[in-house]
Amino acid sequence: MSASQAAGALAGKRVLVSAGPTFEDIDPVRFVGNRSSGKMGFALAAAARALGAEVVLVAGPVHLPTPEGVERIDVRSAAQMREAVLGALPADVYVGAAAVADFTPRSVSGHKLKKTAGSDTLVLELVRTPDILAEVASHPRRPALVVGFAAETHDVERYARGKLAAKQLDLIAANLVGAAEGGFERDDNALDVYWNGGARTLGPAAKTEVAAQLMALVAERLDGST
Ligand code: PMT
Repeated sequence: MSASQAAGALAGKRVLVSAGPTFEDIDPVRFVGNRSSGKMGFALAAAARALGAEVVLVAGPVHLPTPEGVERIDVRSAAQMREAVLGALPADVYVGAAAVADFTPRSVSGHKLKKTAGSDTLVLELVRTPDILAEVASHPRRPALVVGFAAETHDVERYARGKLAAKQLDLIAANLVGAAEGGFERDDNALDVYWNGGARTLGPAAKTEVAAQLMALVAERLDGST
């Protein structure tokens, strides 16, 4: 694809991106969260916009400016993210870059939990959150291209291809995460992208650059699927 073709490669397409962490409240002052900064998802939203798409960005609690020309919906919890994502359908493309909490407290205390005299432990009961990505992929208004992310600390290809098949995705972008490897929070990243019958490595490079490459690949795959 030439540079001029790439410039408008997603013109006329509606791209829905999720980004950032979700915070699952325990009580009015505490929550369960994770280290996602939203940088990867925000870079993807900006890259899709740069390719001419109409972009909706569903953002967990992050401190980042909204990319120009992008519609942003702020949410806090996995349940709120699910509602916002499903409410933003139909779309041509969904990219699930958010680090959605897999578990949430069974109940949220209405008051700050107190230390109990004589007890050194606190037991929190956590229940599974809905899998937004799997729900989008099996939705009656399924986007033509559903792109998942996989954050793995080891056996990246095996787990990523497992998620590709189990969640019936079109593409999965896997990154190695961990204290040393990064993925979370940093300004750079590397992605191994898998689909049925193919794979491509993007980066290591700035998240903005990796995002531009992933969105170009999305446009290419979308072209092939329509
Ligand atoms: O935000 P940054 O600091 O820039 O970091 C970027 C990142 C590391 C968060 C990002 O690149 C990334 O890997 N995002 C996905 C993180 C993740 O939650 O991966 P997972 O392997 O646990 O989840 C797999 C997929 O299912 C993801 O697309 C996730 O959005 C989705 N999911 C997971 C659970 C759930 N309840 N609903 C979901 O939709």
